[in-house]
Amino acid sequence: MMRVSTPGEGECIVRLSVIGCGYLGAVHAAAMASIGHEVVGIDLDPRKIDALSRGEAPFFEPGLPEILTEGVESGRLSFTTDIAAAEGAAVHFVGVGTPQQQDGHAADMSHVNAAFESLLPHVRPGDIVAGKSTVPVGTAAVLAPLVEAVGATLAWNPEFLREGWAVQDTIDPDRLVAGVPATAGGERAAAVLREVYHPAVAKGTPFMITDYATAELVKVAANAFLATKISFINAMAEIAEVTGADVTQLADAIGHDVRIGRRFLGAGIGFGGGCLPKDIRAFAARAEELGRGESVNFLREVDAINLRRRDRAVQLVIDALGGSVFGKKVAVLGAAFKPFSDDVRDSPALDVAVRLNGLGANVVVTDPQAIDNARRLHPQLTYEPSRDESIRDADAVVMVTEWDEYRRDLTPEHASTLTAGRVVVDGRNGFDAAAWRAAGWIYYGMGRP
Ligand code: UDX
Repeated sequence: MMRVSTPGEGECIVRLSVIGCGYLGAVHAAAMASIGHEVVGIDLDPRKIDALSRGEAPFFEPGLPEILTEGVESGRLSFTTDIAAAEGAAVHFVGVGTPQQQDGHAADMSHVNAAFESLLPHVRPGDIVAGKSTVPVGTAAVLAPLVEAVGATLAWNPEFLREGWAVQDTIDPDRLVAGVPATAGGERAAAVLREVYHPAVAKGTPFMITDYATAELVKVAANAFLATKISFINAMAEIAEVTGADVTQLADAIGHDVRIGRRFLGAGIGFGGGCLPKDIRAFAARAEELGRGESVNFLREVDAINLRRRDRAVQLVIDALGGSVFGKKVAVLGAAFKPFSDDVRDSPALDVAVRLNGLGANVVVTDPQAIDNARRLHPQLTYEPSRDESIRDADAVVMVTEWDEYRRDLTPEHASTLTAGRVVVDGRNGFDAAAWRAAGWIYYGMGRP
């Protein structure tokens, strides 16, 4: 019961269902349709489904609207709230969210459990259920017997997409990982997943077949490593701050060592978003449950260093404005947790804005994409879509998300024509410090003299 057709040239069209149409699921569904598969995306939220059905992305992601529209118009891509629509698909991807629990650091597994419960009655013998959500190690081993009970096979197929690059990362990933059982069913599941990802497989993308636990761990280990790399350089920034060293030069110098590499050594206000912060916390919580808390104790330090950088940025603004921000106009450039995203989940940028506002500053936040999301979360802040209007009459300019509009395009000469003060706090070390100083500004970076 493969329900896989071969139209020629070795390319297969596979019928797929994608359960959960959030960031991961919506991109996955559209990307799979764009490489030729027949895909139905399923989500409980009718507003999301309505938007996706019209070819509209419910969030900002470059390239997504195009492939959504193309998929929907071609008839290969559809969206529904009806889980029964999963029937007839050969592979069912489960990509629902695993947010941090309200009252702890562990992952909230209620969406994953609910998705499997509602999906399984519609799964047929011979189907493959492919888990994509980021889950605590050991989850697949618990879910596998439920999938096997309906004659199907569970594979764990983690997703490594970055927001802002999600379409490219899905269609053309660095690597593919499939955790499968050591059975004939597992072997077949791996073979079918190869067919599903045929363009990447054809170009030689590493496709690793592992057991469940390894596949689950690959994802959290990768995110833990990236978070650690960022916090490492931010720890060096803290040392640079008391020694007069420049962390950006330090990062360049150590980054030339190919064993280290320069990427993810950007010191600043630290990491945020829907993945890194909650994933390292969930990993530490899971390790604790497994009796191996000490193995990843360093992740608590990674988290603590990360959060301290927000305090540091706020303190720099206070110092820069002579000891108090009360009543001062502070323009905050950026609300998204990183550029090319409208995501404000655990955004360090927005956190800095909120804290400055709490200290009595007259904060004006601007962002090219994230204002609507930021306003929903923090309606108490003042938002201004125009970069130039946001800095007009400001006593200090604080750059916290390195959008090109700020980092590259905002010159100190132009800013000088608009602001009241000449104080700039560069929370992402994105500006040319020398140029700002030469134009008469007092420049403060993160971990720079
Ligand atoms: C991350 C992983 O990169 C991705 O593989 C995984 O699938 C999901 O989580 P994402 O959350 O989209 O992706 O963001 P990422 O590009 O990793 O950046 C995370 C945060 O780190 C951002 O807030 C960014 O500003 C910050 N960051 C990144 C730094 O502070 N310094 C850096 O050098 C790099």
